[in-house]
Amino acid sequence: GKVAVAMGGTSAEREISLTGGRAVTAALQRQGVDAVAVDIGDRPLAALGGKGFDRVFNLVHGRGGEDGVLQGLLEALGLPYTGSGVLGSALSMDKLATKLCWRGAGLPTPDWVVLREAGDLAACSGRLGFPLIVKPILEGSSIGMSKVEMAAELQDAWEAARDYGPVMAEAWIDGEEYTAAMLQGEMLPLIRLETPRAFYDFEAKYRADDTRYLCPCGLPAAEERALQQLAARACEVLRVSGWGRVDLFRDRQGRPWLIEVNTVPGMTDHSLVPMAARAAGLDFERLVWRILETSVA
Ligand code: DAL
Ligand code: MG
Repeated sequence: GKVAVAMGGTSAEREISLTGGRAVTAALQRQGVDAVAVDIGDRPLAALGGKGFDRVFNLVHGRGGEDGVLQGLLEALGLPYTGSGVLGSALSMDKLATKLCWRGAGLPTPDWVVLREAGDLAACSGRLGFPLIVKPILEGSSIGMSKVEMAAELQDAWEAARDYGPVMAEAWIDGEEYTAAMLQGEMLPLIRLETPRAFYDFEAKYRADDTRYLCPCGLPAAEERALQQLAARACEVLRVSGWGRVDLFRDRQGRPWLIEVNTVPGMTDHSLVPMAARAAGLDFERLVWRILETSVA
């Protein structure tokens, strides 16, 4: 059948999606799949409906692609698509809903405060202490995020985030950062991220080459396994299925803290799921094939 690789969209992560989408399309074509890259822009129905596609490889990041909207459209069109369904996508895109689900299920996630106006900043620093992270609730790729070390920086952080919709502040976890990729219900090897920057920001994710990626991650096997199990549970609670990537920290006492889940993880040459897959013996072609297999009707 004919496969649409849906990419682009209109979110702030549009360019990231186009880069990954082209790589995915080429990898599918190399394996004999009749794959077509489709930039859905702001017209997903016109781009994907009535075009003779049999399934959709969804690589649209952020709002309109990763948040349940595209998933709902594809459900209505009767087109099978990769990754999580409507609910899992919607819950995971919203960092506040994510945290409420995890807290409700007894899973560890750092304390947070929702910021409704600049005046909430004082309250948030009082409750969370410094440093803290100010972030848009509905964005990806660290867009609009700032690490705040002192009260004088709060106002700028608020202004950097507010253009992207609702904003929250989250307690900073002092420790190590990891990411755990899930593929067809199995966890791939953990990657540990070490950045010389204040945090693993947009520059570090896509432009700079100063992040160290450790895979194997260096933890004793039992501890890696425990983090993988926690990440698997984190996915289950959010109804994340097919594939995804859980970002988490481990503090100085060795306690894990869940940060967020990406239901349409990046697939650029800087991206983490391809790196973890490689460590598990899956090259990019094979990985893309396995993701395509998650598009069950
Ligand atoms: N949100 C970006 C694409 C990622 O998680 O990889
Ligand atoms: Mg994200």
